[in-house]
Amino acid sequence: MCGIVGFSGTREAAAVLIDGLRRLEYRGYDSAGIAVADGENINVAKVKGYVKNLAELTHDGADIKGTVGVGHTRWATHGAPNDINAHPHMSSDGRFAVVHNGIIENYALLRQELTKKGYKFASDTDTEVVAHLLEMYYDGDAKRAVMKTASRLEGSYSLGVICRDGRLFAMREQSPLILGLGVGENYFASDVAALVPHTKNVIYLEDGEFAELTPDSITVYDVRGRAVDKPVSRVTWDVEAAEKGGYEHFMLKEIMEQPACFKATVEPRIKDGRIEFESFELSDEELHGINRIIITACGSAGYAGQVGRYVIEELCRIPVAVELASELRYRGPIIDGHTLLIVISQSGETADTIAAMRECKQRGARTLAIVNVVGSTIAKLADHVIYTWAGPEIAVATTKGYTTQVAVLDMLAIYLADRLGLMDKERYDKLIEALHDMPGKLQRAIDLNRNIKKLAKRLCGHNDIYFIGRNLDYAVCMEGALKLKEISYIFAEAYAAGELKHGTIALIEQGSLVVTLACYEPLFEKTMSNIEEVKARGAQVLAVSLEDNRQILKKADDFILVPRTEPILNPIAEVIPLQLFAYYVAKERGCDIDKPKNLAKSVTVE
Ligand code: AGP
Repeated sequence: MCGIVGFSGTREAAAVLIDGLRRLEYRGYDSAGIAVADGENINVAKVKGYVKNLAELTHDGADIKGTVGVGHTRWATHGAPNDINAHPHMSSDGRFAVVHNGIIENYALLRQELTKKGYKFASDTDTEVVAHLLEMYYDGDAKRAVMKTASRLEGSYSLGVICRDGRLFAMREQSPLILGLGVGENYFASDVAALVPHTKNVIYLEDGEFAELTPDSITVYDVRGRAVDKPVSRVTWDVEAAEKGGYEHFMLKEIMEQPACFKATVEPRIKDGRIEFESFELSDEELHGINRIIITACGSAGYAGQVGRYVIEELCRIPVAVELASELRYRGPIIDGHTLLIVISQSGETADTIAAMRECKQRGARTLAIVNVVGSTIAKLADHVIYTWAGPEIAVATTKGYTTQVAVLDMLAIYLADRLGLMDKERYDKLIEALHDMPGKLQRAIDLNRNIKKLAKRLCGHNDIYFIGRNLDYAVCMEGALKLKEISYIFAEAYAAGELKHGTIALIEQGSLVVTLACYEPLFEKTMSNIEEVKARGAQVLAVSLEDNRQILKKADDFILVPRTEPILNPIAEVIPLQLFAYYVAKERGCDIDKPKNLAKSVTVE
């Protein structure tokens, strides 16, 4: 969703800001803008559309003079995506410019109050109230105006504020904001992707904190304006990790990175043949006290949770519920101290997931977060964190984020089952060996499916596609269908194969495409029967099957093969060809693969 950047230095700011915005484009947006202070005035440029339009308008920033500034990519919430609603927004007296990520929930009341006092609004946004509040509270001390303004705001925000005299502030409340420490210049941004070209030394702001940046210093304050000593963290990502590296799209690059990401996530946690997590210390008593697990997440992270549910229940015999965070947060969840809440999120900033987590924590749940972004809100809120080491994920459609989440869930299930005394040594050792073998298997899942491009070319004309499977296959169907719909805009839905005849089979007609996942062998014959059923009604079947199980080839019209792994690990290999299928179908259809319409990478508002 919206991205913000800020810069204070001695060189021209505009080009730095535009480059920063380019690196935040993946978050999803519909307009872009910058504001730069030259000591006397604030110079603003903003446009509907892409950062490249902003770059064209300003001749790559050359037209906008000044060494301090803020920039913004806007994903419209309040008011249409157009030039006027694009950020930055100015105070009427031209003293302040503001960029904002989040939602000011009490903006309507504030707008009424400010309008009565004579402030004129130029846009339909919630953000503009911030600029006018700053003006209202300014009494010669910009820091005091910032604090007073913050005290009036309800909702979530990360805000960047510049004053025309060159002072630069950043504030955070329930929305990501990271400060970057450079040499003779300093920065802030919604995420590290915009900072890594300049610095790897960062400070994570906490909710309620704000900072003032000058070229030589960053001072962080608490809500009462007292200076706070903040630790400086070191980002481990390289700038190349957030670039395409020769691939046409980030999504393809990230699909190809999966064997390495799996290895980075799993191997450091296997020591002398035993799984060890760096931040999941539970005493035996605490462990045996867990009688229920709730997994909460949104989108693909939730679908990773669905895989986790099957695996944890099978190995640990603990009941697991997978709950959509957007539903759980408002349902008065039934939770007690015996509930382990597993929160899954690539970004660590998904608003619904954060809210559901807060709700469950308040009710006494112990929380374990599986997160990719270090220092993110969810990571900070959790009692325990297991990071997925997938590196920066830029494509909106997650791939390596999802597979590393499933990898962690698999490891967790093995770890818990062992500690609960439910797994014998032989099985444990076999699973550890299988985890070591997985990067090679994942590479094979990629290599085996070089024909997917052709398949996609032939099948890309379908308007709706059904995904069916049972047990773990069904869980993978959900992710396969989501991948296809979000990047190719084809209607695709996952159905438990056994449920078909309770309704959905009514939709199957001559030529319908049914992608059938049949890697879960205990129910293989059942799935074969489902293939018969849909074929009898004219469906065309694209089957996904283990490479050494050729039985399906006689029944399916087309097939995708997946290397055999330990069954509980199979979803990780099985999803890869589905990701590739979605990618090539979207490509055939000429879609904007890395930035699908209407979607944002990190959904930081409700
Ligand atoms: C996946 O391809 C999606 N774009 C989306 O469903 C995503 O998984 C979801 O928004 C959750 O994001 P998170 O993992 O960053 O919390």
